[in-house]
Amino acid sequence: MPALPGFRDFYPEDCARRNYVVETWRFVARGYGFVEYDGPTLESGDLYRKKNEEGAEILEQLYYFRDRGDREVALRPEMTPTLARMVAAREKHYRKPMKWFCVSNFFRHERQQKGRLREFLQFNADIIGESSPEADAEIVALAVDLMRSFGFSEEHFVVRLSDRKAWMDFLASRGCDEAQSRLALECADKIEREPEEKLNQKLASAGLTVADLRTFISGGSPEAFEPVLAALGARGMTRFVEPDLSIVRGLAYYTGVVFEIFDRSKSLRALAGGGRYDGLIKGLSDGGADLPAIGFGMGDVVLGHLIDETPAADERRKSANPPSCDVFVVIADEARRGDALGVVQEARDLGWKVDFALKPAKVGRQFQDAEGIGAARAILVGAEWPVLKIKTLATRQEEACERSGLAERLGIPGDR
Ligand code: HAM
Repeated sequence: MPALPGFRDFYPEDCARRNYVVETWRFVARGYGFVEYDGPTLESGDLYRKKNEEGAEILEQLYYFRDRGDREVALRPEMTPTLARMVAAREKHYRKPMKWFCVSNFFRHERQQKGRLREFLQFNADIIGESSPEADAEIVALAVDLMRSFGFSEEHFVVRLSDRKAWMDFLASRGCDEAQSRLALECADKIEREPEEKLNQKLASAGLTVADLRTFISGGSPEAFEPVLAALGARGMTRFVEPDLSIVRGLAYYTGVVFEIFDRSKSLRALAGGGRYDGLIKGLSDGGADLPAIGFGMGDVVLGHLIDETPAADERRKSANPPSCDVFVVIADEARRGDALGVVQEARDLGWKVDFALKPAKVGRQFQDAEGIGAARAILVGAEWPVLKIKTLATRQEEACERSGLAERLGIPGDR
């Protein structure tokens, strides 16, 4: 029986790929001074229902059910509402700004398409309690450096920077009320994906046309971008960023700068997306917590496709995955299996990754297995006991070694 559609099995090679992505995310985020947190996989359904309008895409994709205690619950489709809930409950415990990241799995009942699954992994980084453009730039810079750490350059990706507030001002100037603005933003979000005719029908009730939206989009770069672009320029990151008002983001809570990362060839869906959401924490707080916030999410699915398609990134991933075994103990004489186990244990205690044959096997077969799992060295335990042979598999060089001198000869990892 296969896994459900949109859900993945992780065989060891898939886990190795996943671990590479997760470790890179964690390493780069820590380099920016972010600390890790997490929340529950299952949340109260109200957390998403109350914050979104009826019919919002994220609600239609929710895994939503009644649990055995008759509570309405949902598998988390994203982290931001959980983060806002956690922050609203305990923000007084933490210095501001809070720089938090997480790596978690999320669930959305998406239509089957390339780059979208129903369970995926997403890295989130958010800065809470700071409203300055410096915080906006810090978040965008982190997103850029994540991409660079995977081996991508400006040839491969672009951050498209926009401003929800500029959109809201424009829509207000056209006399749109809240519901009409929401509808207009939804249409703007789909402008490149849905037929113009269909969008014009929807926009009619807001007194707008696709042409109006396009005119606003091509109107250029709002002033709000300048300090953000300056702070990115000072980091040498201008080449990764393009102002682009066609980005509006599908989620309702954004209030200011928003951005998405795309591959340059535009053949894939967004790699990451986020923005400023200054009202969400207040909306979830009973005790008056009211903090500005900005952050983004980067998923593992589109990222994985782009790594596969980009030789520089693929090479980097391959060289980052260490072999599962350093030292293979070859048992050349079954009568010495007990002695060999002592050798295995000593090498493991030194910190080496050690493997050996669990049942009798020909010596040639054991060497093949050693090479197959990428071991650098083999220790031969056989008739010459208590003398061992240590073989460097790449060069086939062999040295004799007294059993009593093994620890000294092997050394410790990182000290070869
Ligand atoms: P989002 O744009 O919905 O934003 O998701 C961010 C990224 O997660 C997407 O660009 C994509 O890489 C990945 N992603 C989303 N849905 C799927 C899916 N079904 N399958 C695979 N990958 C997917 C958010 O989730 C916001 N909460 C991000 C945020 C954090 N905003 C502020 N802080």
